[in-house]
Amino acid sequence: MPLPIKHLTSTKQLSRDDTDAILQVAAEMEEVVEKGGSEMLKGKILAALFYEPSTRTRLSFESAMHRLGGSAVSAVGMQFSSLYKGETIEDTIQVIGQYTDIICMRHPDQGSADTAAGVSPVPFINAGDGPGQHPTQALLDIFTIQKECDKLDGIHITMVGDLKFGRTVHSLSFLLGLYKDVKFTLVSPKELVMPEKVTSFFDERNISYVQTEHLEEGLDADILYMTRVQQERFKDSAEFERLKLKYVLNAKHLKGKKITVMHPLPRIGEIATDVDALPTAAYFREARNGIAVRMALLAMLLGKA
Ligand code: CP
Repeated sequence: MPLPIKHLTSTKQLSRDDTDAILQVAAEMEEVVEKGGSEMLKGKILAALFYEPSTRTRLSFESAMHRLGGSAVSAVGMQFSSLYKGETIEDTIQVIGQYTDIICMRHPDQGSADTAAGVSPVPFINAGDGPGQHPTQALLDIFTIQKECDKLDGIHITMVGDLKFGRTVHSLSFLLGLYKDVKFTLVSPKELVMPEKVTSFFDERNISYVQTEHLEEGLDADILYMTRVQQERFKDSAEFERLKLKYVLNAKHLKGKKITVMHPLPRIGEIATDVDALPTAAYFREARNGIAVRMALLAMLLGKA
């Protein structure tokens, strides 16, 4: 089941059929993991280039490659790569494409993924480009929503926190917008509202959304998608300090509610730890789902699924 794309830089490249196919292969990959892995990508090498910090994305990409019988090489931190010496992204990617079969990259600059994909001789996956997109997170999020709620059509999702800089909510909005009768409640301080690139997409497609500053107005949805206010995107540290814990979800907010709580993680206090024990707290299951989804993407982009 090959995808009709060579590189994945944005969820806007994906149709509903593409997304459903990835979810189906991801479900099959869960069985592969349960059976102890496979040799599907034996001999293939993944380059994991992370010029911004990561725990989940990098390690789950590497684990996914290993679970399919392949291997991974990493470059972590700008200061340990030749980008630090002034090498361009284009040159770096063209060289790494000589060494490996597929590349994933995280970079602080929005648009860096498109630059890399434009020259990459091998399949390229965006693992987060600044405040731009994080398509593989969106795919694992949608896989999680399907598993937790048993549906995607008709989902009502509340997104909370840093909607301006949060690349995960941008990518997820475009992907969920492919499904029928999806509703969004967008909770953020006015300084961090969802950017126009997303709200104009909602408007063009007649997708229902409301914007509010009040968390309580979003608690009757199916999914509560909390996000971190991202220090690394702020020029003014005082503004970050003022906004970082505007929304702190705790178990009392959720009393009597059926809403499934998700978060791309890491969290910095916006979900109190008393939520963790609730059966509706899905964020650690969500992180686990990253393995199967990234296995599916690696296999499909390498034409092996
Ligand atoms: N969700 C996510 O992208 O986590 P990392 O920054 O740890 O990769």
